[in-house]
Amino acid sequence: SDPDPLQDFCIADLQSPISLTGFPCKPASNVTSNDFFFNGLAQEGDTNSPFGSSVLLGNVLAFPALNTLGLSMNRVDIAPGGLNPPHTHPRATETGVVIRGKLLVGLISTSNVLYTKNLTAGEMFVVPRGLVHFQMNIGEEKALIFTAFNSHLPGAVIVSLNLFGSRPSVPTDVLTKAFQVEQSVVDQIKSKFG
Ligand code: GLV
Ligand code: MN
Repeated sequence: SDPDPLQDFCIADLQSPISLTGFPCKPASNVTSNDFFFNGLAQEGDTNSPFGSSVLLGNVLAFPALNTLGLSMNRVDIAPGGLNPPHTHPRATETGVVIRGKLLVGLISTSNVLYTKNLTAGEMFVVPRGLVHFQMNIGEEKALIFTAFNSHLPGAVIVSLNLFGSRPSVPTDVLTKAFQVEQSVVDQIKSKFG
């Protein structure tokens, strides 16, 4: 988790250059009630995307009052059949609670063991820091999850996007070798994420 706070609060001054452990604080005399509240997770996200899902971020960049406090949250909306694709958070353990819908929630250990369960409203999951995980809506209605992290900026590496949609692109030879497939397969996947 992130380092312990050194003061009551430190509302991030996002205009200042980033430091090792977060952002400088905006002057306390400029802090108002509004700084401590954030409505960015109030509305349903747009799931009209190739994955059929949306992740709204409630991290320090969106909600500067989280600066140095070592926690943050996301709102995950997933359409029926949609997927929050396999990804990892390099700086945080994640926990989540299903608010509505029916989801296949899975995580994969560093020993390549898959752990899954079907969850419905009120049920929780946890993903230890850095492990690959996903959620798929296996129900007939919209699914909604709120997730929490022990970092003010957990980061997210979406595995497919990271490998096949990077800039510049990972050399095709690297990917054909890594995945043991023909170049045409790599080209096809790259074309989806490029
Ligand atoms: C879900 O896995 C999330 O990162 O919010
Ligand atoms: Mn996650």
